[in-house]
Amino acid sequence: MRWSLVVLLGLVGLPLVAQQRVEPASIAGKMQWFQDAKLGIFIHWGIYSVNGVDESWSFYNKKMPYAEYMKQLEGFTASKYDPTAWADLIQRSGAKYAVITTKHHDGVAMYATRATPNVGHYKWSLPGPLSVELASPAGRDVVAPLFTELRKRDLKCGAYYSLIDWTDHAYPAFIKDSVRYDIRKDARRWKRFLTYYQAQIDEIATQLNPDLWWFDGDWEHSAKEWEAPKVRASILKRNPQAIINGRLQGYGDYQTPEQNIPVERPDSPWWELCMTINDNWGWQPQDTNYKSTHDLIAIFADVVSHGGNLLLDIGPREDGTIPPRQVQVLEELGQWNAKHGEAIFGSRAGLPNGHYYGPSTLSADSTTLYLFLPHGGCGSVEVKGLHNKVLSAEVLGLSMPLKHRVVGKISWSSVPGLLFIDVPQEASDPWMTVLKVKLDGPVRLYRGEGGY
Ligand code: GLC
Repeated sequence: MRWSLVVLLGLVGLPLVAQQRVEPASIAGKMQWFQDAKLGIFIHWGIYSVNGVDESWSFYNKKMPYAEYMKQLEGFTASKYDPTAWADLIQRSGAKYAVITTKHHDGVAMYATRATPNVGHYKWSLPGPLSVELASPAGRDVVAPLFTELRKRDLKCGAYYSLIDWTDHAYPAFIKDSVRYDIRKDARRWKRFLTYYQAQIDEIATQLNPDLWWFDGDWEHSAKEWEAPKVRASILKRNPQAIINGRLQGYGDYQTPEQNIPVERPDSPWWELCMTINDNWGWQPQDTNYKSTHDLIAIFADVVSHGGNLLLDIGPREDGTIPPRQVQVLEELGQWNAKHGEAIFGSRAGLPNGHYYGPSTLSADSTTLYLFLPHGGCGSVEVKGLHNKVLSAEVLGLSMPLKHRVVGKISWSSVPGLLFIDVPQEASDPWMTVLKVKLDGPVRLYRGEGGY
């Protein structure tokens, strides 16, 4: 039955949510900071930034030969890498956490690995660990210094780690349309890979102790094949507070829709939309299709309105500089956040669809409602089905009090009237205006169909 449903959903093109094996109530405590955080910065940094090609996928998808891809190691310098400046920028954007690639599907570690891969018959075969520290001019671990700087600023640290390793000789997949071997026929070879990748997880846990583990690539194998329960248990044994994203075949804590904005509010209390700032995860100079600050604020408001987080991705260059366009967007986002932070950070999902035609959030105690006004909104803003009395309404960041009124309330009926708040033109924020509406108590909503 379940499988037929899965097949059916697959056919109609709906995303399949990995079955959650983690009980939400059991993790609520450790998820608190994540739920409050709302904004994280995702950083895809790797040797792919040397030629500006698709991260790992470029050789997998045969856009370039593997050897040429790996040759980028020789050009990865990190010569202007300034983790202090990175952490400052992340903080200025308003983000509360960052997630950086510790190893992408290409198998190149960005941190100081000493685990021995099972490399064999490729031109680029290294006798020992594969990392930018040991095999590129950068000559150093580029993750640890960023974690240090983030922690100085009280920002949480996330480690992206791809389970996939298309370089390792004991990993079955390599280039699209071909596999090295079948793990059902050579369990010992697969075991060698499991040993390798789990050794890397141990290293990352010991050296970096991430607050958040951002796994990727779980789709290539089942939970059983990855030994997902064991990996989850070993991470939590070392750090019971560690959060694990939802890409561990059902053994993670929260969902990670990618690029696709949910239209309906996700069921899960915790979710995070990961999204690129242009069209690619890593640095690609020809990709100038940047989302504007307006676009990103609209997306961000929509995400927080539905109780989620936005994990906004940037792609630094090989020398460690962050392209000016990316810096500009983060800074502008930061300016908007500084003015409207009260409506965002620590907030909860806003009104369900139908009450207000725009994004909204609620304070954690749900006695304050924040209305986001898209399209440079002014005029009469309408809210339906609100039982509460409004104590006050103002423009956030300007402390400008606003007139409000209720119309259509029938004295003998329990159905609430319509709330109108009058917003003058001069209240408009250049990106998106936010109203703060104080209620007489926790929000109470009417969800019915009217009547007589
Ligand atoms: C996808 C891509 C990967 C990227 C990730 C970020 O899984 O395969 O390249 O790092 O998305 O979410």
